[in-house]
Amino acid sequence: MTTITKPTTRKAWANAISQPAKEFPLTPLSIIAGKIPEGLRGTLYRNGPARLERGGEKVGHWFDGDGAILAVKFSDNGATGIYRYVQTAGYLAESKANKYLYPNYGMTAPGPFWNQWIKPVKNAANTSVLALPDKLLALWEGGKPHALNLETLQTQGLDDLSALGDNLSFSAHPKCDAKTGEIFNFGVTLGKDSTLNIYQSNSTGKIQQKSSSTVSGVPLVHDFVMAGKYLIFFIPPVRINLLPTVFGLESFSDAMEWKPQLGTEILIFDRTTLSLVSKSVAEPWYQWHFSNGYVDNNGEIVIDFFRYQDFQTNQRLKQLPTGEIQLPAKSTLWQVRLDPQTAKVKSSEELLDRDGEFPIVPQENVGEFSRYTFMSLHGKNSDTTREIYSTIARFDHKTNNLQEANLGENHYPVEPIYAPDSLNPNQSWVLTVVYDGNNNQSEVWVFDSERLDDEPVCKLGLPSVVPMGFHGTWKAG
Ligand SMILES: [Fe+2]
Repeated sequence: MTTITKPTTRKAWANAISQPAKEFPLTPLSIIAGKIPEGLRGTLYRNGPARLERGGEKVGHWFDGDGAILAVKFSDNGATGIYRYVQTAGYLAESKANKYLYPNYGMTAPGPFWNQWIKPVKNAANTSVLALPDKLLALWEGGKPHALNLETLQTQGLDDLSALGDNLSFSAHPKCDAKTGEIFNFGVTLGKDSTLNIYQSNSTGKIQQKSSSTVSGVPLVHDFVMAGKYLIFFIPPVRINLLPTVFGLESFSDAMEWKPQLGTEILIFDRTTLSLVSKSVAEPWYQWHFSNGYVDNNGEIVIDFFRYQDFQTNQRLKQLPTGEIQLPAKSTLWQVRLDPQTAKVKSSEELLDRDGEFPIVPQENVGEFSRYTFMSLHGKNSDTTREIYSTIARFDHKTNNLQEANLGENHYPVEPIYAPDSLNPNQSWVLTVVYDGNNNQSEVWVFDSERLDDEPVCKLGLPSVVPMGFHGTWKAG
């Protein structure tokens, strides 16, 4: 008798998420290779979904995983690491019950319908972090941030930033102005027609000004742009059919519809008054993330972002927690130029035909021209359907040159994080957390930002696997 075994398409990254990640207390980190640069002083913070199952049940979507924060501190005494789940009310209740209790982005609430109707969604606190002078915020776009102790990562509770107010959310992609210390962010209040709330905070995070604008239907707005004196939103043609989610019949993710006929709405706000300057409608595309924006010498707004041709990316990310992905979703780096008076697209071009995501620029350049964009990419010969990003790279906007790292087979980085050197203004570093699928371990890799194609200057071992996540930040000091 012949046994036919179905070939598996499972790749090495799947092992990083097959078990709930284990927390670890403050731990000195061993140096695997190289040495810690003398001028690298500060803390890398990262957030991401760390637990994709509970009580034998898988989450419905990668976005549903409970957030855990990794902090890696570099000091004169070496590096330490600490990894803690954000102790949200939902996380605590579900831990106690050992089962999922709440609806989420990609999950309906369990049980009979009376358990589902208008049941509050769990704040997963899993998307990004904002390091303020006296606290760390764990961000999630559907609700308020959670405040954590910067050193111990102890959860202190939901944070209102002094003035957020009831039922307003604080999204996961705030923009900080390095010169003024101001922090801009937004939150969408869902409704028949939704409200786009925009916030301006001071450097401590305290909200000082708010505005609100109506947007049609129930959109999905994940990120925005600060460019000179403007704040810009691209509202993609995705609309949520809210009714089935209210009755718990469908998750938010499954109730999202791609409606290319709506085009991409472009809204431009004045960052001083937070008032609408102009709006227009462009051709349809989808984006999760912007790289940066600035105003050029002609007064035009220039915006770089990773552009998808449709919303299949959401289905791809829904498959990720299963450990096997069967859908591609290519996104490449694009640049559009806008007339600020009309919000009309003056020109639009693809800068780089490589499949990637998680673009960032040095913090000091946010809102201004940045020569470099750093990003995650699929390797050149990678199976872009079944694999996840396997390298990081730097795009030079002056020369159009791409410099990319070679991490080796079965190695998976997360979003690159830029860290200026504390001693030398001409030196900077790029940090990423790498999952080594050959040895089932996670490491922190530090690259010279000018030489991503060289060996990292330092590799540090982490005590346990820290699965691939979303966003992080660097706090100097
Ligand atoms: Fe994001």
